[in-house]
Amino acid sequence: MAGEFEGKVALVTGAGSGFGRATSLLFARDGAKVVCADINLQTAEQTAHLIEDTGGDAIAIKTDVSKAAEVEAMVKATVKKYKRLDCAFNNAGIGGLGKTTDEYTEDEFDRTIAINLKSVWLGMKYEIPQMLRQGGGCIVNTASIVGLVAMGGLSAYVASKHGVLGLTKTAALEYARKGIRVNAVCPGIFETPLNQKYWDQFPGSKEEMLKTVPLGRYGQPEEIAEAVVWLCSDAASFVHGHPMVVDGTFTAQ
Ligand SMILES: NC(=O)c1ccc[n+]([C@@H]2O[C@H](COP(=O)([O-])OP(=O)(O)OC[C@H]3O[C@@H](n4cnc5c(N)ncnc54)[C@H](O)[C@@H]3O)[C@@H](O)[C@H]2O)c1
Repeated sequence: MAGEFEGKVALVTGAGSGFGRATSLLFARDGAKVVCADINLQTAEQTAHLIEDTGGDAIAIKTDVSKAAEVEAMVKATVKKYKRLDCAFNNAGIGGLGKTTDEYTEDEFDRTIAINLKSVWLGMKYEIPQMLRQGGGCIVNTASIVGLVAMGGLSAYVASKHGVLGLTKTAALEYARKGIRVNAVCPGIFETPLNQKYWDQFPGSKEEMLKTVPLGRYGQPEEIAEAVVWLCSDAASFVHGHPMVVDGTFTAQ
């Protein structure tokens, strides 16, 4: 809602693309100052410029979310620039590799867990103390429908997203009485660069995968942004520890 986040500060990771960019733009439209963090500084800057072009206030920060020192620096830079942190969207991540459990190498497994799961813990580890100092805040973590169900060929990815929901629920319990709401989004299959890479690698997979979506189309990043911004809004004041599914009926099957 326009003006809902006036005077508030939102931090978004993976802000240079897909869900992160769409959510950064929506937070800004609704009045938030936005910190756009991404390992790719150039795309994060593009998002910040898109916000500035519409009269909003944003900065871009280069952050590798799998590195503790960089995540700590990201939160410090947010508070240094805007003096507070109200909403955090821990979203940056990488996709699955289309390999069976025995085909994943140790490096591939470790990298997936570091970027998709450890990153979410690191984000909350450094965001929560700031939110406690201010008396509250809202956190949304990006899980996936494969945080709830499995899908073949994605073992490390599936494990990372199940883990994100475990971390989300635990933090929700720990901070329930301290003014910090913690939720997750569980996207189905969306048309973002992450999936495009997979579809390009496996010709025909885009058409084949669509058959698994009862709604008959893929999601658009703006449809995740709407869910994230709503979860951070006062309208969601009693929604806490919730894995919000946005999947065009995929998990209803
Ligand atoms: N697209 C989907 O269908 C889908 C479905 C379920 C979950 N997800 C999850 O949503 C999140 C965003 O996905 P997307 O589809 O927008 O992908 P995307 O590839 O469009 O965007 C991901 C962004 O994260 C950044 N990033 C990657 N590694 C990083 C790191 N180590 N540190 C900081 N930034 C890093 C990339 O540079 C990119 O800008 C991911 O966690 C992904 O697993 C996506």
